[in-house]
Amino acid sequence: MCGIVGYVGSQKATPILIDGLLALEYRGYDSAGIATIENSTLKVLKDKGRVNNLYNLDGINELEGTVGIAHTRWATHGQPSKLNSHPHMDNSNQFAVVHNGIIENYADLKKFLETNNYKFFSETDTEVIPNLIHYYYTNGPVSILSDSKERFLGAVKSAIYDLKGSYAIEVISTICPNEIIAVRKDSPLVIGKGDGENYIASDIPAILKYTKDFYLLDDNEFAVINKDSIKFFDNTLIEHNKAVKNIAWDANAASKDGYEDFMLKEIYEQPTAVRETIGSRFYLGKKCSFDDIHITKEYLQSVNKIFIIACGTAMHAGLAGKYMIEHLCKISTEVDAASEFRYRNPIVDEHTLCIYISQSGETADTIAALKLAKSKGAKTLAISNVIGSSITREADYTIYTHAGPEIAVASTKAYTSQVVLIAILSMYFAEILESTSYAEIEELKASMVDLPSKIEQILDDSSKIKDFAQMVYTEKDMFFLGRGIDYTVALESSLKLKEISYIHSEAYASGELKHGPIALIENGVTVIGIITNPQLVEKSVSNVQEVISRGAKTLIITNQILPSSNFDYVFNIPNTHPLLSPILSIIPMQLFAYYISKFKGLDVDKPRNLAKSVTVE
Ligand code: AGP
Ligand code: GLU
Repeated sequence: MCGIVGYVGSQKATPILIDGLLALEYRGYDSAGIATIENSTLKVLKDKGRVNNLYNLDGINELEGTVGIAHTRWATHGQPSKLNSHPHMDNSNQFAVVHNGIIENYADLKKFLETNNYKFFSETDTEVIPNLIHYYYTNGPVSILSDSKERFLGAVKSAIYDLKGSYAIEVISTICPNEIIAVRKDSPLVIGKGDGENYIASDIPAILKYTKDFYLLDDNEFAVINKDSIKFFDNTLIEHNKAVKNIAWDANAASKDGYEDFMLKEIYEQPTAVRETIGSRFYLGKKCSFDDIHITKEYLQSVNKIFIIACGTAMHAGLAGKYMIEHLCKISTEVDAASEFRYRNPIVDEHTLCIYISQSGETADTIAALKLAKSKGAKTLAISNVIGSSITREADYTIYTHAGPEIAVASTKAYTSQVVLIAILSMYFAEILESTSYAEIEELKASMVDLPSKIEQILDDSSKIKDFAQMVYTEKDMFFLGRGIDYTVALESSLKLKEISYIHSEAYASGELKHGPIALIENGVTVIGIITNPQLVEKSVSNVQEVISRGAKTLIITNQILPSSNFDYVFNIPNTHPLLSPILSIIPMQLFAYYISKFKGLDVDKPRNLAKSVTVE
């Protein structure tokens, strides 16, 4: 969940490492630290708090080393504190390690090391790693090797072999002061190829400004990186070659580009993200096509059940997808939180297609849920925003959203791109299955092509949402209501508000309110109704009237002509095909959460307790 950066070259490592950490701070941010090697000595500076704090630590400018590793932490074991911050060193101060993830068997390993006279100074699981490396360097079979490089790599491999859990790890050592060893399992790590210098990071944006050539490290694969070479080894230390990937992302996409916050920038990038995601996947009058996958009619006809599995916002995109697939393809579709799916013994077989949605492609629960369905014989299809991410390497098929890097913790442009992509996928399936009329699919395509300009129209109207946010930002509770596909938007709106404004909110299917939660409605409570389905307008309006009668203050997001007008505020959005309405109705809700967070003076991009990629269970 944290950020890892590494540099080896001829320049001073610290500014590059800090720059990378700043770009990664959104992944986890309770402490930060750095280790470089100078004159055969490890220099470590670390503390709790944000990267800026590290930047201001005494001695940071005196770190002259040209090889270094750095970390921002999202604590799993032990509070945020200086001692618990990474890098961690072994007792002999010869090995320094940064680690992202969790070592599940750290208690046993710690006991083992303690019986061998190792001392521990932090509460972290990570501290066992440098000490295990030292143990194997001095005691293991590799300890007799005369080549210190081989011995170092052998010791790291032996230590890794003992670890259970998930990890992305970088190790440096005074023994081989010109190199970094990196290894990963279930946690991302990429290596950026430079000219006479090389980079490592847990996420591409951290080093995008230095290179666009990346190696994506695989699970259980070791990389030995020095300034002129990058070598890859399998888990038995047999060396192999690896293809470099060119990542087309623009380096500016990972900067704020004049916006106050990444979230606002990403909200405003949605017209482009939607346009890019549509790309050349369809043209009016022509069938949808996916170069990346080839699914046959025979296979689709054999599918009797689709699961969409994801977490958080990606799951909400999946909920909209359910409406699309069921309507267009007539295949029963169930949506599940990955963390639930993987532990409930789901009924999945070769007639089930499991679709996984993950912006990062690194979410631990989603990856585990994918592996589970695969083991039960289902075909798996991943929707991700990050090329080569873990999930895409596990799935049978992968299709990509083209939202560009999403930095803010609160997902916005990834969501709209995911909904667009599932809509295209549903049309593609429906065309293969011939389960929906040509006319309806053409209507959907025409509506989709118009989405970017309609999003722009909504963004142009953002001051109205800002005004409403100003009226209600001090409140403690809010409710979001919707029916059908609008309910999925209510869920996403409520999540957005919670995560960045810390206001408690609930989303309900409008018709469910009277079965209990209406008891919570009292004078002045804010209720936001999303009403876009022409067939459900009257019923939805009646549900809102029920809360108005009990004193609620109401905001309605709609593209319909409403039969009554006693709402406090109405925000009109452009009309579209009802299945595509989430892509428009979510925009004012994202802005609403954003402005409330700003009015409250909160850190929009880095909300408390959250991290961008949840790579632990
Ligand atoms: C979105 O605003 C959240 N921060 C979160 O729910 C996120 O969507 C979820 O963790 C899934 O992430 P993923 O798409 O990278 O798998
Ligand atoms: N488990 C480690 C710790 O608590 C690493 C956490 C992280 O991924 O930042 O220190």
